[in-house]
Amino acid sequence: MALPGAMDTQDILDLSLALAKQSDIPADTTINVPAKDVRRALFGVDVDAADLVIAKEKGYDLVIAHHPTGGSAVLEFPKVLSKHADILTRHGVPAEVAASAVREMQEDREPRAHAENYDRLPSIARLLGIGLMCIHNPCDEIGRRVMDETLRAGLRSSPRVRDAIDVLYSIPEFQAAKTRIVLRMGKIDNPLGKWAVHHGAGTNGGVPIARAAYEHGIDTVFYIHIDAGALRRLWELYGREGSKNLVVTGHLASDSIGINALVRELRARRVRVDTYSGIVDV
Ligand SMILES: [Fe+2]
Ligand SMILES: [Fe+2]
Repeated sequence: MALPGAMDTQDILDLSLALAKQSDIPADTTINVPAKDVRRALFGVDVDAADLVIAKEKGYDLVIAHHPTGGSAVLEFPKVLSKHADILTRHGVPAEVAASAVREMQEDREPRAHAENYDRLPSIARLLGIGLMCIHNPCDEIGRRVMDETLRAGLRSSPRVRDAIDVLYSIPEFQAAKTRIVLRMGKIDNPLGKWAVHHGAGTNGGVPIARAAYEHGIDTVFYIHIDAGALRRLWELYGREGSKNLVVTGHLASDSIGINALVRELRARRVRVDTYSGIVDV
């Protein structure tokens, strides 16, 4: 039996699901190497092999990564993209449009997921004898909800894009991060209009999800990151300073919101958690 206050990797995974109000383990989240009786855990956004060696040397029982580390979290990753369809349909986008946008994203991702070296990090953790897990979507879902609820609570009537950005800065991670919230398309004084936070679905929705949103009544899309190629295509479609807005909140800042929520709950259960590798400390 575990000692009072001690958690194992399954307890930690279950706690993350409970905080995210999820009943199933998302495809991008897994325990690679289980650990019992976790007293000290090291939590980072990205984890590599050297980190595992250092963690072992420093006496950690477990390394928790946010981004997928291997195993099913890497191989099955494209499945989690279907959560983009849930977000789109909740905001009034027709189900068949949402499904086809998700299919397009999955087709882009599946060959890479299939080719990935899914056992590199887990095999190193096994050699070292240290626990390894990744908690991706549960943390992102917590973060999405915090952003969504903060905006809902803080926006006054007929807001402009700048008002939404101001409201988001009430979240400590956005204040503390070294990146700023950036408007990548549209205008800061545009009406915010109908808006949606597209986060907590594997990765940003790229062109397909933004297009499905903009074509079906959403004026302002919030992403946590986007690559330059997708952005350029969106500028071609909607105009760099047109009426459709794309707010990019910042990768590490946004990921840290949900991660920190989980870290606080783990510490409340007396697991000693140290954060590193990009988690914005607030
Ligand atoms: Fe994330
Ligand atoms: Fe991320």
